[in-house]
Amino acid sequence: MTTVAETVDPPERNDLAPQRRLRIPVPSLVVLVGASGAGKSTFARRWFPDSSILSSDALRAELGRGEADQRVSRRAFEILHRDLAARLERRELTIVDATNIEPHARRALLARRPTPDRAGGEPTFEPIRAIAIVLDVAAAGVHARNAARPGRVVPADVVDRQLAALRQSATDEHLRAEGFDAIHRLIDPAAIDGVALAVTAGERLDVIHEPVLPAPLGQV
Ligand code: CTP
Ligand code: MG
Repeated sequence: MTTVAETVDPPERNDLAPQRRLRIPVPSLVVLVGASGAGKSTFARRWFPDSSILSSDALRAELGRGEADQRVSRRAFEILHRDLAARLERRELTIVDATNIEPHARRALLARRPTPDRAGGEPTFEPIRAIAIVLDVAAAGVHARNAARPGRVVPADVVDRQLAALRQSATDEHLRAEGFDAIHRLIDPAAIDGVALAVTAGERLDVIHEPVLPAPLGQV
């Protein structure tokens, strides 16, 4: 199998880079979806400046004893949602780095987008697009990365439950029904490292986003 990315975006120019390109219009709300160890934080850090990433793990570490401190989870998500609403109000590209496996978690994020006032007929501003990037890596790969990671290892049974929930409730059909405008499902770890992101303002496709970091070494 060579390719692995699927998308519901319409076909687009593909002459600017040989790799699979994901088109990210600015502003967008980019929601990463994937089990612990799937590579969400690695992907986010590689492609986006830190200032555009909202991470539940980073907030838990700031508020509590570390990324896994569940006692401060609720507060971490309150802050994440507040910051998200503020960023989207300013129409800033924002990436949410959390597992986002449960439908209610994703719906809560999408609901933070400002709603155009349609009272007078025409919407007052363009709605902010919601883009899902699903890191739908095979169970063996997720477990291997999770187990090998320095620092925080999530219990294997928790990862299994996340993988089962992802298969059940994060299908393209579900995500579309939740309101995502584009869904990029990346399955093969090598292909995840091979994608290129095209960050575009409006219809312009000439602004190619260079990775912030090189592809990680040590792939599983
Ligand atoms: N990793 C890797 N190659 C990749 C992506 C990730 O070797 N292409 C490694 C990372 O270095 C890390 C582990 O796999 O040690 C998990 O990746 P991470 O991005 O931290 O996974 P997350 O999905 O963010 O996991 P969590 O939900 O637990 O934060
Ligand atoms: Mg992470």
